[in-house]
Amino acid sequence: MNKPTVLSGIRPTGYLHLGNYFGAVQNFIRMQDDFNCFFFIADIHSLTTHPTPENLQSGVKQVLAEYLACGIDPEKATIFIQSDVPEISELYAFLNMNAYLGELERTTSFKDKARQQPDNVNAGLLTYPVLMAADILIHKADFVPVGKDQEQNLEMARKFAKRFNRIYKKEIFPIPRPYTFGGGDMIKVPGLDGSGKMGKSEGNAINLYEEPKSIRKKVMRAVTDSGPTEMNQQKPEAIENLFTLMDIVSTPDTVAHFDGLYNKCEIRYGDLKKLLAEDIIAYTSPIRERIIEILEDDTYLAKVAKMGAEKARESAVKTLQEVKDVIGFRKLF
Ligand code: ADP
Ligand code: TRP
Repeated sequence: MNKPTVLSGIRPTGYLHLGNYFGAVQNFIRMQDDFNCFFFIADIHSLTTHPTPENLQSGVKQVLAEYLACGIDPEKATIFIQSDVPEISELYAFLNMNAYLGELERTTSFKDKARQQPDNVNAGLLTYPVLMAADILIHKADFVPVGKDQEQNLEMARKFAKRFNRIYKKEIFPIPRPYTFGGGDMIKVPGLDGSGKMGKSEGNAINLYEEPKSIRKKVMRAVTDSGPTEMNQQKPEAIENLFTLMDIVSTPDTVAHFDGLYNKCEIRYGDLKKLLAEDIIAYTSPIRERIIEILEDDTYLAKVAKMGAEKARESAVKTLQEVKDVIGFRKLF
């Protein structure tokens, strides 16, 4: 039996943070033994925000080193850089012909970005879900491990896959499904600013690469309130978020301890934050040390990228040929 195929990617627009790690990368790591895995760096996607050449290059190198430092094994999984596989862009062009303005304009990520960068509402932003679908479909992925925020983009990829199969009357693409290790809900790691998700664009992220001093500072500054006034009262969002983060990095005993104090109105947020910061540091420090080590080894990084590009292209070329055949491209020479 062939292993099912899994694919996911992250844009190289900064450092990986706890949201990426617990929402996506941790799932990748747990899947690499039992699935045929492709994990890539979405450098073409990152062009929607117009990075400088220097930032683009350092971002790609950083994410590659971070993937490896987190424990993605290039011998087990195919790790590659999107722009090293030109077949993706070709499939993107074909898929664009059957993607409609109305449906692209309606996606929440497009609407959000258009609001965030009103002076740069480019066509790449509009067709972002089409490029993402090309990433997924070029390897005929069965599963896509991503965080909750990518749910709608993945739904679009499913729609484009079904549409293509229908138009050309052939089951070329499997319909990709979201995946969470252990079968739970897709994860949303909250930010420390009282609402919403942790994210690079949100500017509220704790990076894996972050120094302990800076982690302590960010956690101690996290938004709280003046404390509970009634026994067993419901937690407001900012407090719930701190507990969610603690659920992720601390032991169940620690969470139960602070939950008990909250319910008895005896909680001191300063104590909770101190412990939370130390637990985050215990989690990220070994990863940070490995990132530093790997970043120094350009030869190793180049070898991983080359090996990944070769493996990814092998798979992509096959799919693209099938796609071109059903579309009707015929050689005249
Ligand atoms: P960012 O949102 O910081 O720009 P990306 O968009 O590059 O990060 O996200 C890469 C991956 O990490 C995606 O699978 C996304 O769902 C996941 N991810 C990012 N932030 C979170 C979060 N706060 N909670 C859960 N998953 C997240
Ligand atoms: N859109 C994803 C994000 O911002 C990154 C991404 C691009 C991706 N292509 C993908 C994720 C394909 C999964 C599969 O997080």
